[in-house]
Amino acid sequence: MRTHAVIAAIAVVGIGCAYGGHFAGAAWAANQDPPGKIPYEENCRKCHGVRGVPPKTMKVKFPKIVTFDEEFFAKRSKDSVVTVLTKGKNEDMKSFKSKLTHEQMEAVAAYIRLFGQKEK
Ligand code: HEC
Repeated sequence: MRTHAVIAAIAVVGIGCAYGGHFAGAAWAANQDPPGKIPYEENCRKCHGVRGVPPKTMKVKFPKIVTFDEEFFAKRSKDSVVTVLTKGKNEDMKSFKSKLTHEQMEAVAAYIRLFGQKEK
């Protein structure tokens, strides 16, 4: 089906643009990583950990840092996470307004919610 191929191509280009180019969107289409993964790893992992559990050194440095788990997401909607990313919170959780687009914030907010889903 030709139409399908065209739609798929448009989708890939669209995702590529959302990433601002140098992280080829094609990479995500090929390996199916969630779109929020790359911006998370580039901007958040250092403090919040690979799976949303902050490393010990960060817990020492930032006693208020949160773990992204079920309990956390029971109280935070995706929109409230986007608000934190836009405005920042207190001294240590900075605003990412200059680093991430709104779409990337939404993608990251959706991505970290996956950490709250326990593997059963
Ligand atoms: C320099 C370390 C650092 C980086 C980088 C960082 N955070 Fe944080 N984050 C913190 C700290 C510290 C807190 C706790 C802030 C507080 O409550 O005072 C926090 C809190 C949060 C919260 C909870 C806010 C709430 O509702 O209470 C969310 C959500 C969050 N970060 C998401 C992110 C995401 C997503 C990124 C990447 C785009 C990121 N953080 C990058 C240090 C960091």
